[in-house]
Amino acid sequence: MKKLSLLIASLGLALSPISHADENLQQARELVKQFGGQLQPALGQAMRSGGPVEAIEVCKTKAPEIARQIAKESNWDINRVSMKNRAPNAEPDAWERIMLQRFEAQLAAGEDPKTFEHGAIVHDGGKAEYRYIRAVMIGENQPCLHCHGTDISPAVKQKILDAYPNDKATGYQVGQIRGAFSFKKPL
Ligand code: HEC
Repeated sequence: MKKLSLLIASLGLALSPISHADENLQQARELVKQFGGQLQPALGQAMRSGGPVEAIEVCKTKAPEIARQIAKESNWDINRVSMKNRAPNAEPDAWERIMLQRFEAQLAAGEDPKTFEHGAIVHDGGKAEYRYIRAVMIGENQPCLHCHGTDISPAVKQKILDAYPNDKATGYQVGQIRGAFSFKKPL
């Protein structure tokens, strides 16, 4: 009997990191929904009321504000990254770079972008973190190309460069990977 309960206890221990990771994956997916679910309408609303020149300001203030709010409520670190980043804090770190490159390879292989996500326990120095990353695509019938495309109006271009002198986030086409949601939390 003692043996059996010991066995169960050690099984429980062996299994717990896995269920832990699953739980974190579910949480991260929920946070993507929250983040995207607040960002998209805010952008749509700004585009309708003021057009892309005005909406740049909304992207600049609203996106970080929504991220901060969700981070505060969830205790996750909430960020967006891109190989060609616009926001200075959107530069990917080593892990994010590897994942973004993996998504590019998956896209080139014809895989469905809906599956471009990855959750993992990552050890950084002495500390363990759960990290989650999910590709953000330039979708069809979305306003992205006004501000991230190849044919940006001069007024929009100017406003972007005023706010982001080191902007790299232009030249995109529909179906490309614009960047990723990248979330982490300490374990
Ligand atoms: C009105 C202009 C505008 C439109 C339209 C727009 N963006 Fe952006 N985008 C920005 C600005 C400005 C930033 C920088 C935000 C910041 O300072 O955090 C940004 C940042 C991003 C980032 C974070 C990474 C980075 O490079 O800073 C992603 C990902 C992104 N946009 C994706 C999209 C997608 C996908 C669409 C279409 C659904 C879209 N954007 C539409 C202006 C725009």
